[in-house]
Amino acid sequence: MTIGITGVAGFIGSNLADELIAGGCDVIGVDNLSMGSIRNVEHHLGSSRFRFHQIDVRDLAALREAFARADRIVHLAAFKIPRYGNAIETLEVNNVGGKNVLEVARDGQRRVVLASTSDVYGKNAALPFAETSDSVIGPSTIARWSYAVSKLFDEHLALAYQASYGVPVTILRFFGSYGPRQHLSWWGGPQAVFISAILKDEPVEIHGDGSQTRSFTYISDLIDGIVRAIHYERDPASIFNLGNTTEISIKELAQVIWELCGAQRELKLKIIPYSSLGRYEDVRRRVPDITKARQVLGFEPKVDLREGLERTIAWQRKAMSVTALTAV
Ligand SMILES: NC(=O)c1ccc[n+]([C@@H]2O[C@H](COP(=O)([O-])OP(=O)(O)OC[C@H]3O[C@@H](n4cnc5c(N)ncnc54)[C@H](O)[C@@H]3O)[C@@H](O)[C@H]2O)c1
Repeated sequence: MTIGITGVAGFIGSNLADELIAGGCDVIGVDNLSMGSIRNVEHHLGSSRFRFHQIDVRDLAALREAFARADRIVHLAAFKIPRYGNAIETLEVNNVGGKNVLEVARDGQRRVVLASTSDVYGKNAALPFAETSDSVIGPSTIARWSYAVSKLFDEHLALAYQASYGVPVTILRFFGSYGPRQHLSWWGGPQAVFISAILKDEPVEIHGDGSQTRSFTYISDLIDGIVRAIHYERDPASIFNLGNTTEISIKELAQVIWELCGAQRELKLKIIPYSSLGRYEDVRRRVPDITKARQVLGFEPKVDLREGLERTIAWQRKAMSVTALTAV
């Protein structure tokens, strides 16, 4: 089977390509390299099992040509939370890109596996979030909601393509993933920046008071769930939460990373009040209900947070030393 992946040079895309190729699939990957790196997939370049196209998902003709031979398409290319701007790119890349992928999949009725996010549950206070839970989104004047709204638009569009044109779609809502190849800035999530700060003996920046919670998923567990979803054919349209159900506050996360890094000095926190981030709203708690993914896909996260963080810290130590050497 040949799988098309958008965003293949990113964190999740490159780990997914590794797993699919190891499992016997061919991969056609596209990425415009705006946030991902060719280094993440360079070990596959030259292999007959992997084709890479540096294109933008907003270019429909190029996407159609690149995925002409793909049996299924996993759509990962996206812009994320516009905490510090980028609302235009978030809305445009996610919505034009999502529509183009669905248009390409319409030729030959190929299944689309669409990456969505736990952010679509927004401020819903009823935990844990099941796939049928409400989306409680804040006001349009707060830019950060544009990410959730863009993903909700993609979800609705995918379901409409299924209903109107018969394109099979599987929507996956990911809950905060981390691990090797995560972006080393806030783009990659709190693990990346906390590990960097602690290894450099700098203060760890906490947004808000740090009591907000998240549920973090180690990358190999997430990839296992995505691969199961790629091979799932029973429903023409379905939605699954993919995540780990262990909940931890952001402040505790900083503490655990500090312990696992074996830092010599005491943990220094720098509290950044939400008010200094402009008009901003955070999600207080986030926990998935994964009953559906367990029962239907056989998905079961295996790597607990401490083990996942140990592996991530080991990878990041090396990644940071390579970055430092390259900068010299
Ligand atoms: N990482 C997480 O914890 C998480 C959580 C929820 C949802 N998601 C979703 O999963 C998907 C993958 O996330 P990730 O963490 O791997 O992000 P990432 O930024 O590492 O990867 C995304 C890739 O898409 C590429 N890209 C961006 N705009 C593009 C465009 N216009 N054309 C072509 N390529 C483009 C980037 O260069 C990058 O390589 C995204 O859709 C994201 O919204 C991720």
